[in-house]
Amino acid sequence: MDLPSGRPPPTIDGLGAASLKKLELARALATQPKLLLADESLNGLDHSEMDQAADMLGAGSRKEKGITIVWVEHIMGVLMRVVDRVVVLDHGEKIFDGAPQWHNPIRASSSLSRGGCGMMLELKSIDVGYGGFQALFDVTMNVEAGEAVAVIGSNGAGKTTLLRVISGLLAPTAGAMTMEGVDLIATAPHKIIETGIAHVPEGRRLFPRLSVEDNLRMALSSPPRGKRFAERLDYVYGLFPRLRSGAPSSPAPCPAASSRCVPSRARS
Ligand SMILES: Nc1ncnc2c1ncn2[C@@H]1O[C@H](COP(=O)(O)OP(=O)(O)OP(=O)(O)O)[C@@H](O)[C@H]1O
Ligand SMILES: [Mg+2]
Repeated sequence: MDLPSGRPPPTIDGLGAASLKKLELARALATQPKLLLADESLNGLDHSEMDQAADMLGAGSRKEKGITIVWVEHIMGVLMRVVDRVVVLDHGEKIFDGAPQWHNPIRASSSLSRGGCGMMLELKSIDVGYGGFQALFDVTMNVEAGEAVAVIGSNGAGKTTLLRVISGLLAPTAGAMTMEGVDLIATAPHKIIETGIAHVPEGRRLFPRLSVEDNLRMALSSPPRGKRFAERLDYVYGLFPRLRSGAPSSPAPCPAASSRCVPSRARS
């Protein structure tokens, strides 16, 4: 898109729901995380875009990018193509943890990697609540490097809460939690980012009055893991080419977007 010189780049206000979703994911991937926490990242995408996301987060692609995923999602078809393991929460308790054989026995016996590079994330007997309300009870969960783990469960089961605990937004009242041996409970949230954890939260945490590039820049304001900003930008535009132009992908954002676009904090 050619812009008259001196005119600022368009803000993301005019982007469609699918582009905003991609930007959320791009912002997290721009930090080249070791561990991606994705909370309902497929909402608003059409089938082909979901397929693209599944390809992008599939085993081969994950291995190439060195990414491990804990993925909360209601869209089971895509999840089951991508994940190695499923954790089911029910009323804040873990009631299942295992391979999704029942859904696709061929996939379960296939050569898709189950990490095998050592333990990355370890949660032991985690309790957490909001004020006097307990939302997670005695949750123990391990994630190996290279794995993709789906966290599923009905509304209110505690999936979002679990991701908030891992990224340090909520402090557990009991239990232990480490990322590659680093004690996450004793680590401040901004330092948790430096361990390589990126969180794509439920609901948008983008900056509606900034451009695509500036939203990505905000994500990269934390100490970089290796590459310079321009290289990171090329990397994410390679993953999401249409974001480069900042052009709207559909005529209007979803109605809920404006109220959900006010960031409480810049993360990813
Ligand atoms: N900020 C909050 N204050 C008080 N209670 C909360 C808060 N956020 C979540 N809860 C409660 O904690 C429990 C777990 O909520 P959580 O958002 O983790 O569920 P979820 O599995 O992500 O659900 P959904 O599928 O609807 O996103 C629910 O009973 C919810 O009402
Ligand atoms: Mg949730």
